[in-house]
Amino acid sequence: MPPKKAAIKVYAPATVANLACGFDVMGLSVREPGDELSLMLNSSGKISVRRIIGDGGKLSSDPKKNTASVAIQAMLDHMGIRQGADIVLRKRMPLGSGLGSSAASAVAGVFAMNELLGRPFSKSALVPFAMEGERIACGSAHADNVAPSMMGGIVLIRSYHPLEIISLPVPSQMYIALVHPQVEVLTRDARAVLPRKIPLETGIRQWANTASLVAGLFSSNFTLIGKSMEDHVAEPARAKLIPYFKEAKEAALLDGALSFSISGSGPTVFAVCKGKASALRVMSSIKKMYRDKKIPTDQYLSPVNRDGVIVIP
Ligand code: HSE
Repeated sequence: MPPKKAAIKVYAPATVANLACGFDVMGLSVREPGDELSLMLNSSGKISVRRIIGDGGKLSSDPKKNTASVAIQAMLDHMGIRQGADIVLRKRMPLGSGLGSSAASAVAGVFAMNELLGRPFSKSALVPFAMEGERIACGSAHADNVAPSMMGGIVLIRSYHPLEIISLPVPSQMYIALVHPQVEVLTRDARAVLPRKIPLETGIRQWANTASLVAGLFSSNFTLIGKSMEDHVAEPARAKLIPYFKEAKEAALLDGALSFSISGSGPTVFAVCKGKASALRVMSSIKKMYRDKKIPTDQYLSPVNRDGVIVIP
């Protein structure tokens, strides 16, 4: 076991959940944006959120409401120990954007505490604690943001009960273009518009795509990856929450994106591209479309991040 330290700083990356066809069961990690979190142990026996930077005052510092502190407390309760610590959270990503902001904070929190306690858990064993943060943030303890932010790469959640996470191969040259139109969509609201039931034909199309996406990732077959990343369940219901979704999709596909859909619960949209140059072109054309419509955006371009959460030296 590594020696115990009293303080640590970590970085947990943003994530793209669902990957179009894999609602609640697939996700990948990008290099940026992400959250920085510092954790300092103390003898108070309590977890406190000392400071949050970059959230525009929107996040709660109440340890029972903040995803990082809730996740850390879930871990400590599981271990049956009382440990005090101060959290300083620097949000380096937009909130309510579909980039897994609440998940990144929860992941950063439990990963940091695990490091300071001498690493009693593996990264995958930390996922259920981070999911408790998600439950507080959006009322549902899904893992498709938490797991890729923790473990990096592309993941499939084969089962929730019991939790079983499978890491999938990452084809080299797989780049993600992300464009965030600056409107807020809360995951809670984006989940409320989803159909409770789907016709069998829709299910058949959806699980065929999910399976063929996995096949495409294993064979680095970009054509198959692109064809498979089509969402017949969440995207049709959620597209109306995202300004000019149809126009953005047309622009991306016209400029060579292999696929285009909503990142998590939106409003960020993402395109999968082969190679950096293609991703750059696609990102620019989506951004231009939004600029023409006078909607400000943030944008990020990244290969799939294979590392997930890391310690910042
Ligand atoms: N799978 C979740 C959803 C991700 O789409 O609601 C939320 O970020």
